[in-house]
Amino acid sequence: TWDAVPLAPPDSIFKLTAAYKADPHPHKVNLGVGAYRDDDSKPWVLPVVRKATQLLLNDPALDHEYLPITGLPEFVSGAAKLILGADSPALAEGRVASVQTISGTGANHIGALFLSRYYGFPGDKAVYLSDPTWANHFAIFNNVGIAPRTYPYYDPATIGLDFAGLLGALGAAPPRSVFLLHACAHNPTGVDPTRAQWAALADAMLAHGHYAFFDAAYQGFASGDLTADAQAVRYFVQRGVPLLICQSFAKNAGLYGERVGALHIVSPTQEASARVRSQLSVLQRSEISNPPSYGARVVALILNDDALFAEWRADVHTMARRIIEMRTELHHLLTAELHTPGNWDHIINQIGMFSFTGISPAQSQALTERAHIYLTVNGRISMAGLNSKNIRYFAEELDKVVRE
Ligand code: LMR
Repeated sequence: TWDAVPLAPPDSIFKLTAAYKADPHPHKVNLGVGAYRDDDSKPWVLPVVRKATQLLLNDPALDHEYLPITGLPEFVSGAAKLILGADSPALAEGRVASVQTISGTGANHIGALFLSRYYGFPGDKAVYLSDPTWANHFAIFNNVGIAPRTYPYYDPATIGLDFAGLLGALGAAPPRSVFLLHACAHNPTGVDPTRAQWAALADAMLAHGHYAFFDAAYQGFASGDLTADAQAVRYFVQRGVPLLICQSFAKNAGLYGERVGALHIVSPTQEASARVRSQLSVLQRSEISNPPSYGARVVALILNDDALFAEWRADVHTMARRIIEMRTELHHLLTAELHTPGNWDHIINQIGMFSFTGISPAQSQALTERAHIYLTVNGRISMAGLNSKNIRYFAEELDKVVRE
């Protein structure tokens, strides 16, 4: 029956986790998947999440009823305020249609599905993705019949942003094109536009009538500050760029497996927003009926209580600070101690969970095969996989492959 089904390769990111787990080597290092680890390479349950979980489990009124189709109302409204700002005029004017999703991936999917049904694409249905981007973006848009195309983003020569290339692509695309933008802490490069560059991007988006499809999976991870990391999104909303936002609580609340996320579509009017919300509800019903409740309840408690929210801010800061310390330490080891050939300033200039090291696929593979260091072949490393115990080993092995 299934003779025509071709064998698919394993997922490029999750296969690394499996290979790492199966590797008995005592010095193995997992720099693959973007998941935070503490200084002992262990997953970190945020203290505020532990507290909120206890509150939830001790609540005698807790039941397991269905949530509304669009999700837990206090989660969805709290999530919208988190990314848009509690004082957002768009929220006050009732112009934001929000729906709880299966984490960021689900938000991307429902957002893409909604666009594929209702967006007035110029010609063929297409989305412009940064080159490079999270590999799953390609599959998500392909699944709903939107063709992924790429725009220049990363410049290997500078290991930084190809801003001229990016602006050029905005100018060359047909008016009303859809551009996927990473709200902060770009995955996989760790290279973000500056404030001035975001302003120029907003100008260009408005001039050409383009639509911004924001993926916000790392709010808090870029700077350690939840507000600062929402700056690009809030600025685009303020400028009136038509947009939607895919939001994930996997990373910033450490709720990876609980699949907590939201999609927010900002419309020009309250009336348009009501129509958008009604259609999101229809799509959601046929896809997942209604979203899972547990993680959303945990996050809702945190978002709607001042004391818990303050604790969460501190926890997010703890994670971001440890990553920034690892950047400083890795940069120091490569430049001041090992004198590794090349310029390594990008390690401290890039932000967020990932660094794009600039090493070649062959060098990445050599690290995995010889040193038991797991990373994606594009040279991306998850900084959260480094800690005070393994960073020297990593730096020395990186130094070796660079010198060969
Ligand atoms: C990553 O890029 O490693 C993360 O976003 C996890 C994932 O789902 O791929």
